[in-house]
Amino acid sequence: MMTTTTTTSARLSVSAKPSSTFGATKAVSMRRGAAKRAAVRVYAGKKYNITILPGDGIGPEIMKVATAALEVAGKKNDIEFGFTEALVGGAAIDAHGVPLPDETLEICKSSDAVLLAAIGGYKWDTLPSAQRPEQGLLGLRAGLGVFANLRPATVLPQLIDASTLRRDVVEGTDIMVVRELTGGIYFGKPKGFGVNEAGERIGYNTMVYSEPEVDRIAKVAFDIARKRNGRLCSVEKANVLEVSQLWKERVTEVHKDFSDVELSHMYVDNAAMQLIRRPTQFDTIVTGNIFGDILSDAASMLTGSIGMLPSAAIGLDGPGLYEPVHGSAPDIAGQDKANPLAQVLSAAMMMRYQFGEEATAAALEKAVNDVLDDGYRTGDIMQEGMKQVGCVKMGELLLAKLQ
Ligand code: IPM
Ligand code: MG
Repeated sequence: MMTTTTTTSARLSVSAKPSSTFGATKAVSMRRGAAKRAAVRVYAGKKYNITILPGDGIGPEIMKVATAALEVAGKKNDIEFGFTEALVGGAAIDAHGVPLPDETLEICKSSDAVLLAAIGGYKWDTLPSAQRPEQGLLGLRAGLGVFANLRPATVLPQLIDASTLRRDVVEGTDIMVVRELTGGIYFGKPKGFGVNEAGERIGYNTMVYSEPEVDRIAKVAFDIARKRNGRLCSVEKANVLEVSQLWKERVTEVHKDFSDVELSHMYVDNAAMQLIRRPTQFDTIVTGNIFGDILSDAASMLTGSIGMLPSAAIGLDGPGLYEPVHGSAPDIAGQDKANPLAQVLSAAMMMRYQFGEEATAAALEKAVNDVLDDGYRTGDIMQEGMKQVGCVKMGELLLAKLQ
């Protein structure tokens, strides 16, 4: 719980817990109001309880850097953290035989926010799909009801030449992909394996969206677009799919409440092409679960390295799930080669979107920017003339910037 302690008898109690992009704004004004009401000097210390899910592969290494960075950045802003570690993914399979133990979900639900590193690895790749680490992640998303996945793809000037695309194509790219995360073909029923009329074995899934599901993700996306550059592109496949026709209809309807935002529609195949052709045409993109999965990977490569990209998954209330876009990179795990910056940037998104703690979020982002300015790079973003460092060293450099 978010608590506000005082050094005098005047005790401020701020119990409402902001958890959405809307909530983030609310949190800021609420705190200002509370400060005004307090006639006596109070210690503005706050404590946030964070569930830490290091997961597999490079997860534990990058998580160490992020929690250390949070502690230092938080301290400067009178924020304290309570970290509770829990198991998910392969680590949970090894310890408990399931990718998402009930206990883990309970710990997550009762905390203020969840910071996840990455899950999966070769070791668990051959398990049947219901027992794979990925199911842990899907279970977490569904269990926390975090239906809106925010995946920014911003080209940092320092890394512009790390992109596989030409500088003149990617320069200035700043896209926010808002991916629906708890519906669509990932969760639709019926699904499974069977036999068709010809007696042939089949596998099938169902891509389905209800009107309320589209409406709520559209509202989040319009709200985000409004706070960015005011342009939203809704991506679907309405020339073929009924589910997409309903999607397009609802997004158009919700637009009536956000008429200051410019709305466009694009088919997903064209969107994939346009992202590579001229990425700067996009501001905010809203799309369904599987299209968002694919397009956010494509968008990430515009920035040079998927190792740099954070993400946030939020619901209407309750703890959100903050994680880097990249995976667990089992090939370099335990070798001090991982890039911890996306994990740190995910922690920054947590401070901004969950708690409305803009100062702490900005400090973390500035520290990342500063170490890049100083020429430090992990292997994945290494370029000629730069100084290559490992995960631990990168963490130390960040902490020095945050002090
Ligand atoms: C992602 C990943 C996951 C997804 C997998 C690991 C289940 O690719 O977060 O983009 O498909 O959502
Ligand atoms: Mg993906």
